[in-house]
Amino acid sequence: MTDRKRGMRRGLTAYGDEEFSLFLRKAFIKAMGYSDDALERPIIGITNTYSGFNACHRTVPELIEAVKRGVMLAGGLPVEFPTITLHESFAHPTSMYLRNLMAIDTEEMIRAQPVDAVVLIGGCDKTVPALLMGAASANVPAIMLVTGPMLTGDHRGERLGACTDCRRFWARYRAGEIDEREINAVNAKLAPSAGTCMVMGTASTMALVTEALGMMLPGGACIPAVMSERLRNAEATGARAVALAKERLTPDQIMTPDAFENSLRVLLAIGGSTNAIVHLAAMAGRLGIEIDLGGFDRMGRETPVLVDLKPTGQHYMEDLEKAGGLTVILRELKPLLRLKALTVSGRTLGENISAAPPAWKQDVVRPFKNPIFKEGGVAVLRGNLAPGGAIIKQSAASSKLMRHTGRAVVFESLEDMAKRIDDPRLDVNADDILVLKSAGPKGAPGMPEAGYIPIPKKLAQKGVKDMVRISDARMSGTAFGSIVLHVTPESAIGGPLALVKTGDRIRLDVPARKLELLVSEAELAKRRKAWKKPRPRKEDARGYRKLFMASVQQADRGCDFDFLAAKVTIRIPRAIKR
Ligand code: FES
Repeated sequence: MTDRKRGMRRGLTAYGDEEFSLFLRKAFIKAMGYSDDALERPIIGITNTYSGFNACHRTVPELIEAVKRGVMLAGGLPVEFPTITLHESFAHPTSMYLRNLMAIDTEEMIRAQPVDAVVLIGGCDKTVPALLMGAASANVPAIMLVTGPMLTGDHRGERLGACTDCRRFWARYRAGEIDEREINAVNAKLAPSAGTCMVMGTASTMALVTEALGMMLPGGACIPAVMSERLRNAEATGARAVALAKERLTPDQIMTPDAFENSLRVLLAIGGSTNAIVHLAAMAGRLGIEIDLGGFDRMGRETPVLVDLKPTGQHYMEDLEKAGGLTVILRELKPLLRLKALTVSGRTLGENISAAPPAWKQDVVRPFKNPIFKEGGVAVLRGNLAPGGAIIKQSAASSKLMRHTGRAVVFESLEDMAKRIDDPRLDVNADDILVLKSAGPKGAPGMPEAGYIPIPKKLAQKGVKDMVRISDARMSGTAFGSIVLHVTPESAIGGPLALVKTGDRIRLDVPARKLELLVSEAELAKRRKAWKKPRPRKEDARGYRKLFMASVQQADRGCDFDFLAAKVTIRIPRAIKR
């Protein structure tokens, strides 16, 4: 890129006369009050993902101000611009359905506007992967800033956090253990500040794996949203963006196979959200990197869970921040990391670890030799029910159900489940296996977080807390239980899940990584022949939905659109040489 193509000269609007295009652009931008001097500076775009519907992004306006300060102190010109924002509870039918739309928006806006570098401000679950997917494809120097986690709330002396405790209290309400007055009181305490969910849900997981990926300044993942340190982190991010513009350090130099392996390692060690696998696969796919699920499972066998955070442990993100944040985890994982991976700090991951302050006494991150769980948080299952793989968050599951054979109780769709799950006449026992179909990428559509199938009310009232549940859906990172997710291929495209009938026997064996439908091949062949593709819905015929249905890939390819992923040139993870 020549200097002629920097700043205001980048990506000129096509009028067939470049000098006129620049003349016109300057005329309009001057209406914003900028001087010629300002317009000659490196231009740093800042994605404004604020929305009145997104409390996880409530602090974005003040973060933008801090980023701008950092940019200007470093000699750049900050210019904010809007992108789509997504909040988990304000995205119908599900935020995952819209993640790729946000990624497209981000990519095209970065490409269309004259930015020499961009600060990506995200936080709520899908926003971080969407911004990084877009930035990876646009390949303009980029740096991530997260809004940061919420502080914890409390209810009658008990510490509370969104949304693990949302589910826990809702389950207690369903079981009749607490009344309406109490559940309403809890409702007002679960999200007590601005910021993202403060347990190890998808937002916290994505923040940590993004720092491990090298796309965020060291120490940026865990600072609570409302702390002044978060604003200083934003200021530093803005300043660093100016340097990235000058160094022309593009995402493809940071988001390398080594960097993704570091992210996967951290995902396993933090007992992170299963959603992160889908997002990392999509992000890597933008750069021609394919994540091999079998290899990821092998990584899991040698990477213990070290972080004691809800939903599997007891602490919250603010505790992890006080314990030293991601650096403490990286130090423990050091022999397993690709330390030469470059980060947006301009240093390698290994240099960042060395430059961090010394460790102090804490009880949130365990030493490698004394882990919370001796294997990684997520295991990959295969078998005739999931030839393309399925996953289970083993660190959040009941140990007694890790080897379990049971009778399937099948729900054909989300609607069917909603209709029958609490019906007192439902034929279901505690050792049955609940199966949900049509909740995958195309089936629902959008692969909603419906995999956390509720325990049928009549069993919940008898004290049943966990059952094996299987679906092609996802699960919120804040949820827990013996839940098999992302069954691939999904039922809506005729995957074996579509063939399961109530009464069939299913065997789950997590130590052996097996998921088997115990039905003869002859019977399955008969059912396959009789299976009919679901009829297209009215909504599938136009607009974004049409594009989604035609292009969305399966979970193992990150549910990205096929035409957005790059050609695969490398598969990870590769073996670590020790
Ligand atoms: Fe936004 Fe949980 S709803 S991070």
